Formats: sequence, structure tokens, C-alpha cells
Amino acid sequence: MNPALAERETAGAAGVMENVYLPKAAVLDRVVDEIHEVKTFYWHFEDAAEQAAFRRFRPGQFAQVSLFGVGEFPTSLPPSPTEEETFFTVRQVGSCTAALHGLKAGDKFAVRGPYGNGFPMEEYRGKNLVFVAGGIGLIPLRSAIVYAMAKRGEYGRIQIFHGAKTPSELMYVPNLREWERTPGVECHLTVDRASRDRAGGEEWTGNVGVVGSLFKKPGVTVPVENTIAFVCGPPIMFRFVIKDLLGMGFEERNIVSTLERYMKCGVGKCGHCCIGVAYVCVDGPVFTYEQIKNLGEDI
Ligand SMILES: Cc1cc2nc3c(=O)[nH]c(=O)nc-3n(C[C@H](O)[C@H](O)[C@H](O)COP(=O)(O)OP(=O)(O)OC[C@H]3O[C@@H](n4cnc5c(N)ncnc54)[C@H](O)[C@@H]3O)c2cc1C
Ligand code: FES
Repeated sequence: MNPALAERETAGAAGVMENVYLPKAAVLDRVVDEIHEVKTFYWHFEDAAEQAAFRRFRPGQFAQVSLFGVGEFPTSLPPSPTEEETFFTVRQVGSCTAALHGLKAGDKFAVRGPYGNGFPMEEYRGKNLVFVAGGIGLIPLRSAIVYAMAKRGEYGRIQIFHGAKTPSELMYVPNLREWERTPGVECHLTVDRASRDRAGGEEWTGNVGVVGSLFKKPGVTVPVENTIAFVCGPPIMFRFVIKDLLGMGFEERNIVSTLERYMKCGVGKCGHCCIGVAYVCVDGPVFTYEQIKNLGEDI
């Protein structure tokens, strides 16, 4: 069980048991367009105590978002706990995500969490961190990237490899620009097609090719010893990147990713998110590639 949840249940045992299914009221502060059909929603809990409790989330955890009269869905937490603002980045795919996309500043919704195991960033102290993200796979990795950069002295080399179909589909562009300029951080970008498909977009002069092509770029060396590789992205990208990393000599237990499953309760009670013996909502969503393979998960 994740520590925040355990703490709430323990606190409840001393007095009135808290209902873990109860979403808490939240207010939307502002919305920022990221890429086509993907927006970032900045928000806060109405209750300051809830906000403070929630802000103890860890990189890689998720939350359940409720839209009144529509439903509830799980979403990653892209901010690092070292940042002040709380936000989600969500692609519109169906009824709940469309309802969230339809909200404007000042509108209310509800949130419960944080849930899940998160990345064990303490265990990774002293190691090199290699982040490989395809498209919106950067959403669940952003928190760990910003966290590691905020605690720069605790980690070895930090490398970020991000690929998108076109330049206008690169995620978190202001962050990418900042990471490219940050001393001690290597940020490499690529696109499948250099087409300038957003009016007024800058001409793309960077790498063209799949994200794995960045590993072979002149001047790029990926450390394998004492390194953790974080990989998130669409299944096809995941398969190719895993092949590249294993080919370089990475051990399966040193490659981590996040899994997505249909969820209902989010707290290990309903079984909706079950893969083999694992509940993605409590045992994950972060798993090593070794665990993913042992679960028989075909990504
Ligand atoms: C731990 C976790 C973290 C997530 N983080 C994010 C995030 O940061 N940003 C984001 O945009 N989305 C994220 N998702 C996916 C998000 O939860 C779904 O897109 C959402 O539930 C869709 O709800 P809906 O009501 O809008 O769509 P629905 O009406 O439920 O479905 C619309 C379409 O999307 C498909 N779909 C719905 N949920 C999933 C799913 N979990 N996996 C695969 N296909 C699905 C359906 O099959 C259908 O085709 C995450 C999911 C999990 C489990
Ligand atoms: S979502 Fe209910 S057990 Fe995981």
C-alpha cells in the first residue's frame, strides 16, 4: 500500500475511518494547450489541508479525477513534488477526458489520491538516469525528471531522449528548452517527420528519426553501468527502445516503465486493473521491465 494511503487508513483507525473512495473538491486555475487534443490543467483543492496532504505525492504516482455527472478516470501526476503547482496533462479520448477539456478556470471537479507505487527515486540515488519518452509518454516521466534535476547532486548523469511524430507534437516545449540549456543535463530531441504542421512553428533543424536513433548520434554516449533507464511511450516505440537498451547491455531490472490499465477503485479493492498476480493501481503503475515480462504483459 502506498504510504499516503496507509497514513490515512492508520489515522482513520484512531478515529473515524476515512472513505478512500471519496473524491475531494478541486478548482481549476488555468488550462494550457500542449499538443493536439492534449492540455495541461492547473488546479488546487478547495481545502488547504487536502492540498497539503496531496502534495506528498511521489514521482510516478497517479490520481483519480471525477467529473460530476460523467465519471472518474486515472491520470498521472506530471509535476514534481519539488514544484509548487499541481497539474495534470490529459489527452481527450472519451467522455471523462472530454468533460475535463470542457472546463474553464474557476470550474469545479474532484480528485482522490495520490495512488500507486511511484518511482523509487531514493533507491536510485548515486545512479545515472536515462529518460526515454515517446510522445505523451513524457507525461508520467516529467515528474521524475524535474525531481532528479531539483536534487541534482544526488544523481549521476541525467539524459533525456524525447521523440514525437512531428515538431508540433513534442511535449512540454518550454521545459524541453530549459532542460537543453541546463548544465549537467543532456536533452536530445527527435521527430519522425520534420514537417512544419503548426502555423508559425519554427523550422525543425534537429534530428529526424525514431527516438532510438538518438542513442547513435555522434557525441552521444549512454552509460549502462550503474544506470536506470525510464521508458514510456506507445507500444511500438517501447518495443524498439527496449531492444536497443538490452542490446547496449542494460539489465531488465534496470529498465522501468509505467503500465496503464482500466481502473475503478484505484486502491487495490475491485480487481479491474489486475494483470496476473499484480494490481496495477497498488503494485504499479511503475514496474521494471523484468516484472513486466514476468507478468506476461505483451506491450
Ligand atoms: C495509471 C494511469 C495513468 C494515466 N495517465 C494519463 C495521463 O497522464 N494523461 C492522459 O491523457 N491519460 C492518462 N491515462 C489514460 C486515461 O486514464 C484514459 O485515457 C481515460 O481513462 C479515458 O477516459 P474517458 O472517459 O475519456 O474515455 P473512455 O470513454 O473510457 O474511452 C475512450 C477510448 O479510450 C480507450 N481507453 C480508455 N481508458 C484507457 C486506458 N486506461 N488504456 C487504454 N485505453 C483506454 C477506450 O478503449 C476507448 O477507446 C492514464 C491511465 C492510467 C491507468
Ligand atoms: S483499480 Fe481496483 S484493484 Fe486496481
